[in-house]
Order: sequence, then C-alpha cells, then structure tokens
Amino acid sequence: IAEDGFLEISAGPSRQKLYRNDGMASDLWTYNGTSPGPEIRVRRGEPIRVRFTNNLQEPSSIHWHGVRIANPMDGVAGLTQKAVAPGETFEYDFVAPDAGTFWYHAHNKSWNQVGRGLYGPLIVEDDEAFFDQVHDLTLVIDDWQLGEGGVLDNASFGGLMEWAHGGRMGNWITVNGEPLPAFELNKGEPYRLRLINAANARIFALDPNKFGARILAYDGQSLGRAETLTYEPFLLGPAQRADLLVIPEDGFALEDVSGDRPFAFATFQVRGNGNIQDDPKLPKPNPIPEPDLENARRIKLDMTGGAMGDLSNIIYQGKKQNGDDFQRTGQVWAFNGIANLAENPMFSSKAGETIIVEISNNTRWPHAMHVHGHHFRVISRSASEIDAGKPWRDTALIGPEQTIEIAFVVDNRGKWLFHCHMLEHAAAGMTTCFEVS
Ligand code: C2O
Ligand code: CU
Ligand code: CU
Repeated sequence: IAEDGFLEISAGPSRQKLYRNDGMASDLWTYNGTSPGPEIRVRRGEPIRVRFTNNLQEPSSIHWHGVRIANPMDGVAGLTQKAVAPGETFEYDFVAPDAGTFWYHAHNKSWNQVGRGLYGPLIVEDDEAFFDQVHDLTLVIDDWQLGEGGVLDNASFGGLMEWAHGGRMGNWITVNGEPLPAFELNKGEPYRLRLINAANARIFALDPNKFGARILAYDGQSLGRAETLTYEPFLLGPAQRADLLVIPEDGFALEDVSGDRPFAFATFQVRGNGNIQDDPKLPKPNPIPEPDLENARRIKLDMTGGAMGDLSNIIYQGKKQNGDDFQRTGQVWAFNGIANLAENPMFSSKAGETIIVEISNNTRWPHAMHVHGHHFRVISRSASEIDAGKPWRDTALIGPEQTIEIAFVVDNRGKWLFHCHMLEHAAAGMTTCFEVS
C-alpha cells in the first residue's frame, strides 16, 4: 500500500508453475506477479483504492465483478472507461456497499486476459462478529489450457469448437494457482469456504452434501441462513461464487462430479480432536432493493448462435506461442439476432424501475448470463427447481433450451454490460448493455 492509501496493482507477464512438479513454468499474465492476484480484503464501508499500472503490451482495465459500484469505476474498457494503455496508470477508488465474496479481473479481451491469469479475489467483510467465529478460506478455481510441458496455450487454442460451442475448456485445474492443493482444517471448527470460479467457460458440478457443507451465499450475497441443498449436483458456472459453511468431522475433497468418474481438485484433511461446534452467527443479507414484480417492465432476450455469421469481424489478433500470427474472426452468438458487442443498449431506463428479463436459450449450449453493477433474482426457470429460494445473483446459468426470468431494480446510473461470462461467447457476440439515467 502506497502512502496515499492506494494499493498498487500492476498487470504484466510472469512465469508460474501450474503443471506437475517436473514441468516448466507457464507464461502467464498476472497482477503483481501471481495468479490469482493479491486478495483484496476490506470491511464494508471502507474505501477500496487501487492504482492500476498496465505493464502488458496491450490495453487493459480492471473490473470489480459483483460490486454494485459507481459506473466510472466499473472497469469496462471502452464502455465505462478508456482502456488503460501499456505503461499507463488508472486509479480505482470506490466503496463496496455489500459484504461478500467478489473478484476482480481484466475487462478487455477478457477471454484472453483472464484466460492467461489476470484475476484475483475481492473480499468485503461484514461488520458483524461472524468473522471472529469462523475460519475463512478463499478458493479461486481455474482451468487452464496447457500444452506440452506446461505451455499455456490460450490464444492458439481458439478453434471453432471452443468459440462456437461450450467455450474454451481447459485441461488443467488449479485452486489458488496450484494443482490439487491439500488444506488442513481443525476438527469441529466452522469454516467458510469462499469458492470463486475464474474459469473461462467450465461449469463445476459439486456435491457439497457429501461432506456436510451448507450454502451461506451465492455470488457474494448472503442468504442469512445456512442452506442444505435439496438437489445435486450443485453447479458453479464461470464467474459464479458460492460460500459454503463446513464444520468438518472427517477429511473430504472438493470434486467435480459431472463426468463418469468424479475428479478432486482440492483435498481437506482434518487435524486435532475438537468437539463439533454449533453454527456460528451467520452473516445477514445485504440491503438490495426488492424488485416490484407487479409494476415491472418486461424485456425479452433470445439467445441464438452456432452459425458463423459475419466473418469479417476480427475479434482478436495476436501471436501464438510459436510466434505465428493468429487471428480469430466471426460473430457466432447473438441476442435477439444481433451480435452487438455492446454498441446498442438493449434498453434505457430510469433509476428505480424494476426490469424483468426473460432469457430464452435457443442454443444447444449452456450460458452464464452476468449483469454488471446490479444483483438480480432468478424468479423462474423452466424445468428446474434449482432457484426455488430465489437467491440474489450476478451471474445465472441457463441450460440448453431453457428459459429463465430475472428481476432487478435498475438503481445504478450509467451504461452497464450484460453478457455471457463464458468469455469466448462474450467476445463472439453474446454481449449487450443497458443504460440507466
Ligand atoms: Cu466478470 Cu463483464 O465480467
Ligand atoms: Cu461483472
Ligand atoms: Cu455463453
């Protein structure tokens, strides 16, 4: 932290071992030399001041994902701020109104900048005593596309399968930058596990019931209770967060159960002989304005895609690891038939209005819809019970052929992005915005 109270964060290339012990280090892009970048942790009401210096060869910016932030601080290059050019600096200065688990990440060519490691956790602590009674563990989960010997292969991997289908699915999972880390927990003591999915496109399917975990918060927003899931698996889509309460009796593993065989990505051993403690005092929900469903304005959003469409639009130009030129073109995804890349707001509105967006996924792939600067409630979902409790979210998964309705009060002035957080999808057309005045 500098004398003026600003935390210095610089983006730049650095080498980090993600692969096996004998593998080489990968060339990542990181904040302050590591991916994930430094954990920023404040109490609610304290200012967050970050001086961002861009030491990359290309423009960048930092977005504070999930924070109901003032628009000029939202960090979207080209929409809410000018992209920070190589060698330049930008100061972020804001107060996060909600306690919870958030994260920050690059927001310029995000599929590439985030895919190469530019992200970190942002934790806003409650002012309640809760935090003295529980251990607090942040787990940032990522999947990387690694080639031979650990070479990061994000750019050259952008084939039709990844861009037009499920997004870039990596082949190497890390938690806090490490493959399969082992944690030691004290027997019987309460732990809050803050899971953050930083992957470009991978949806993790978890089974928290198996190790007796209960849900405290979705996307940073506390439920005010510890909820036992009534369904499994529990899906954690790209950019989504889940806070789990675990009071461990025995060791367990965090595993993905979507495939034929579950695979673990973090293990937890239990030490000591403590008695099983009671639940701690739980964090309260944040004061988010409730949508007024009776007087809401309805917007329809059809997601389509798959055809390559207009191939003249160059999304990315760069170099492969081997030095060859690489270019990715094409608009493959659209909202209401337009791959508009945030050029046309899908609606404009006055602050205070309730909006219900009915989103129909007319594609064969899942998507992870994210709204900037606001949290919403998923008020309906076709053929599924998973949002029965209607939790607040900032990113919602929508299964193939599924329709959901989300409702929220637009109470934050400015132009806000609304995009799929499968980052290749966002780059290839699944991005729009709305304006609040
Ligand atoms: Cu975390 Cu526009 O996204
Ligand atoms: Cu965001
Ligand atoms: Cu998508």
